[in-house]
Amino acid sequence: MKNIHIAIDGPAGAGKSTIAKILADKLGIIYLDTGAMYRAVAYCAKMNGVSCDDNDALAKIFTDFNLEFSDGGRKLALNGEDISAFIRTPEIDVLVGGAASNPFVRSHLVNMQREIAKGVGVVMEGRDIGTVVLKDTPYKFYLDASVDVRANRRYLQNRERGIESDLEAIKNDIIRRDHLDSTRETDPLTKADDAIYIDSSLLTTDEAVELMLEKINGITKRLEENV
Ligand code: DC
Repeated sequence: MKNIHIAIDGPAGAGKSTIAKILADKLGIIYLDTGAMYRAVAYCAKMNGVSCDDNDALAKIFTDFNLEFSDGGRKLALNGEDISAFIRTPEIDVLVGGAASNPFVRSHLVNMQREIAKGVGVVMEGRDIGTVVLKDTPYKFYLDASVDVRANRRYLQNRERGIESDLEAIKNDIIRRDHLDSTRETDPLTKADDAIYIDSSLLTTDEAVELMLEKINGITKRLEENV
């Protein structure tokens, strides 16, 4: 189990991060939030006054683009500077679409993600993990939830953080991001044929984690029986 690679894909707000972190903790392996890496590119491009479709400028940025996760994957430093608080802002929410739809950026980040996974156990979450980054792993999940449930979760999360938000606006933003993620040309969000589909709409976090652990154990058992 030490070098197990677990891929979790799915739309924004389906509970991937929460569930992936718990799974990684329970299995004693690392957690990798690939969305944070796309956000780091968007942030760095913005700080350097570079557009996310200017590949020459991005290539220069990538010559000095060192990402380091800490605190169980919860914190991200870019070239030694903690950027965790700067990559989850409404501005980066908008800019990140440009980074994520650029094939040059995707290929650079996919290489980094594969390097990170080499020789270690990892729960990696994103949009193209089961289809591209870790396409050979037998442990693949597609985590989904209805738009209403995802919007409501985000609304409650905001309220917990003391941010008043509008449920209808959150719902519309989720619909917009779903559309962008699933219709972009390079590596769009799609369920890998061999991924296990889980609808978390009616599950608690604990129930979803338990279900996924059962499935992981089932896959491991099947693989051992086939050796
Ligand atoms: O999961 P998130 O919302 O932090 O992701 C930020 C953006 O990056 C979102 O537009 C989807 C995109 N993304 C991607 O295209 N591929 C990934 N593996 C992870 C995220």
